[in-house]
Amino acid sequence: MNNIYIAPSILSADFAKLGEEVAEVERGGADWIHVDVMDGHFVPNLTFGPLVMGAIAPHTKLPLDVHLMMENPEQYVPAFAKAGAHVITVHAEACVHLHRVIHLIKEHGVKAGVAINPATPLSVVREIVEDVDLVLIMTVNPGFGGQAFIPATLRKLRELKQWKQELGLEQLRVEVDGGITAATAPLVVEAGADVLVAGNAVFGQADRKQAIADIRDSVRL
Ligand code: DX5
Ligand code: ZN
Repeated sequence: MNNIYIAPSILSADFAKLGEEVAEVERGGADWIHVDVMDGHFVPNLTFGPLVMGAIAPHTKLPLDVHLMMENPEQYVPAFAKAGAHVITVHAEACVHLHRVIHLIKEHGVKAGVAINPATPLSVVREIVEDVDLVLIMTVNPGFGGQAFIPATLRKLRELKQWKQELGLEQLRVEVDGGITAATAPLVVEAGADVLVAGNAVFGQADRKQAIADIRDSVRL
């Protein structure tokens, strides 16, 4: 089992002071910074692009975990790589040529992830799972922070855990995103998740350090 990483999502941070916000969660014990990029087409919301992420990067030493909720993500892979991405995750639903996009990300020296929405079966990523560094199982429908965790997604996490064993993919990271709190974190970790994205449960709280500690304590094995 990999170590559990906590990745606060800046979607729930104060956009007027992103530099200070990422520095605060780094001091508070976060492992990665989750960067939600939305294009207003793939999801019904708009956030920011590589220029804003590049402005945040100097304010933290933590790996930047970029979640591209956008159509044609391959167009932006070079810019996010240049802006300091550690991992770039694209949606299987948004990529006709998923294999090509995953390898494009790797060619830029960045770890590659594939994400699936709650209604997308895990089988969609079967032919690419051995090529990626991370699989992101969405535990809400992407687009907004602060939504309720969808318990049916646990089934896919368990299935993926089994694949990892069968295929010997010990290094593969399994990320969950949406509705993760100290109450839901134990469920997803038990089912095989090891990267926990938390937006509202961290940035929505007055004491971010305590919020991160609460999630970590909830999954201490
Ligand atoms: C949802 C985003 C998430 C979001 C999670 O579309 O991909 O990363 O920030 O927010 P919470 O943790 O508040 O559900
Ligand atoms: Zn996300």
